Amino acid sequence: MTDTTPADASAPAPARVRVSGDQPYDVVIGRHLLGELPSLLGDGVRRVLVVHPAALAATADVVHEDLKASGYEAFVAEVPDAEEAKTAQVAAFLWGVLGQADFTRSDAIVTVGGGATTDLGGFVAATWLRGIRVVHVPTTLLAMVDAAVGGKTGINTAEGKNLVGSFHPPAGVLCDLASLESLGRWDFVAGLAEVVKTGFIADERILELVEEHAEALREWGVRETTPETWAVVAELVERSVAVKARVVGEDLKESGLREILNYGHTLGHAVELTERYQWRHGAAVSVGMVFAAELARLAGKLDDDVVERHRTILGTLGLPLTYRGDRWEQLLSAMRRDKKSRGDLLRFVVLDDVARPTRLEGPDPTLLAAAYAEISADAPVGRGPVAL
Ligand SMILES: NC(=O)c1ccc[n+]([C@@H]2O[C@H](COP(=O)([O-])OP(=O)(O)OC[C@H]3O[C@@H](n4cnc5c(N)ncnc54)[C@H](O)[C@@H]3O)[C@@H](O)[C@H]2O)c1
Repeated sequence: MTDTTPADASAPAPARVRVSGDQPYDVVIGRHLLGELPSLLGDGVRRVLVVHPAALAATADVVHEDLKASGYEAFVAEVPDAEEAKTAQVAAFLWGVLGQADFTRSDAIVTVGGGATTDLGGFVAATWLRGIRVVHVPTTLLAMVDAAVGGKTGINTAEGKNLVGSFHPPAGVLCDLASLESLGRWDFVAGLAEVVKTGFIADERILELVEEHAEALREWGVRETTPETWAVVAELVERSVAVKARVVGEDLKESGLREILNYGHTLGHAVELTERYQWRHGAAVSVGMVFAAELARLAGKLDDDVVERHRTILGTLGLPLTYRGDRWEQLLSAMRRDKKSRGDLLRFVVLDDVARPTRLEGPDPTLLAAAYAEISADAPVGRGPVAL
């Protein structure tokens, strides 16, 4: 987002998606959106802390200068990159910055970065004085369509990922599509896995758009992005955010409907754990979705062609479809220990059809093993989209 400038008259009007609930907020999607920040921050804010990793320093500077020009007392704090940021030590560093700058209940945080930065900054906002406002400026595709929307915040501990956190909806989210220009190819493709997930659980038009433009999408950053591809990316972000907004608007705290967003994640999380988090999240979710589709097919719920559609779409994007055949027992015990499973009962989100998600509770172990056999491969998958 280094070319972020306020109010560009030539840019198309931004799209706005409203997230309803106790504390409704807007997700604004477009280009050159800085002028939107004050209205998202809302009335009464005097001090703002801009939190960012080194990779987004230039963008954070632009945001910082703009906030100062708009009359705020603005501060910047650089945090470590990616998961290194999601620690109690980094949260304590930010609490220190807020304390020394006398941040009160009516002040705010602005996060500029990927999902790791929005999770950390959101968590610090949730905990400072029991909750101050936060506006997220997500700069990865994954953060735009997933991490920054929905109010889940958190940090990791030595025992696992996202074990400490809070539900703290932002005051607003600013998705400046220009920031995606500098995103690496496979980070972009991994983000597309969550977009495709959203298509399968709720919006078939997303799948059609990805099918029609898969070649251009998988070449992100390799070739120059055409205006047509940019328009597709804008529509994919809008549609994905709209689905997430609808789901979390109804179920902020994962008591029911929100579970559908975990499509592909039960096995996906187990793959991530087995790979000691050296796989991209989207790559693991891709394998997890093919597994969930096979499980649904074997349970008599899903037609063969929808299962094949998973393989075609994800495969064309360059995402992995298989995982090591010798790892089943390890994956199974990881799934049993997952914080989202209830007791010993494994739960999967599966599909009856495109956009018709349902749950499969405690499936027969032979069914699970048979579904895994359908996705297991001896050969290691290509490293491109997979490894961090
Ligand atoms: N809260 C939620 O609901 C939720 C949902 C999904 C994921 N998450 C969390 O999100 C995190 C993953 O998010 P992510 O994939 O955005 O990873 P990330 O924040 O680690 O960013 C990935 C890498 O991209 C770099 N980067 C960010 N924006 C860039 C840009 N515009 N150009 C170039 N490089 C850029 C970052 O510096 C980092 O090195 C995980 O910690 C995960 O737990 C949270």
